[in-house]
Amino acid sequence: MYVNGDYLPEDRATVSVFDRGFLFADAVYEVTSVLDGRLLDFAGHAARLERSLNELGMPMPMDRDALLDVHRRLVDENGIDEGLVYLQVTRGAADRDFAYPDADTPQTVVLFTQAKPGLADNPKAREGIAVVTIPDQRWGRRDIKTVQLLYPSMGKMAAKAEGADDAWMVEDGAVTEGTSNNAYIVRGDTIITRQLGHKILHGITRKAVLRLAREAQMKVEERAFTVDEARGADEAFVTSASSFVMPVVRIDGQPIGDGRPGRVATRLREIYLDEAR
Ligand code: PDD
Repeated sequence: MYVNGDYLPEDRATVSVFDRGFLFADAVYEVTSVLDGRLLDFAGHAARLERSLNELGMPMPMDRDALLDVHRRLVDENGIDEGLVYLQVTRGAADRDFAYPDADTPQTVVLFTQAKPGLADNPKAREGIAVVTIPDQRWGRRDIKTVQLLYPSMGKMAAKAEGADDAWMVEDGAVTEGTSNNAYIVRGDTIITRQLGHKILHGITRKAVLRLAREAQMKVEERAFTVDEARGADEAFVTSASSFVMPVVRIDGQPIGDGRPGRVATRLREIYLDEAR
């Protein structure tokens, strides 16, 4: 693992109990996928990291090239062929106080890898996943990738309790996104997904997938959609660095379309992975 400039074995990688990431969730993170030992869309993740930090008044702890070097070294030394690199930057350790500490407080920077064999050839992608809907009770700046992940974690547990795989969060009647992915429906030949703004995370996979869809002459509408619209959709899917494009086949126990992974989602997963490899 990488901790503040050192490369350490897991059992020696520690941070202070006074770390503001621990006490206040005063921290941002990124998850970058690795396929065939190569990082996917590192530039996009680095740009979003910088934006998240900037929104919280924190600087980049190192420049993008240095950050890329750390990612690459961990992938190489840990022998990651398929998996994820997790990165977290916190405002650092300081006496517990709601006010931010002095700006010269050293930030905490931690990176580690997770091997995920079968990330690309995921059997779930052939079956599709089931989602349940829950109210979106997160804070109002979901475009900042903070580590405040308790509510999404509760959502995941609510889904599991109902025998589903994940939850779609709903606000004012419209779906915002999944617990850790962006949500899409397909009606006819049109792909519909929530527009960018403060209500959702600006997914790096979302950006790539919408570009690929448009290049393949598919129609894309970036707008809010309701749960009813999702129930009546021809197909649905989610995107994220850890799932790429994952078909959704059930919502609140009801099949979507014919209850099988849809043509559009399957095609988008193929072209996304083709480009990635
Ligand atoms: N989650 N929306 C939310 C709420 C997310 O947490 C994520 C990513 C996404 C998709 O973003 P991207 O395509 O950049 O991965 C959308 C990561 C994978 C996680 O928390 O593990």
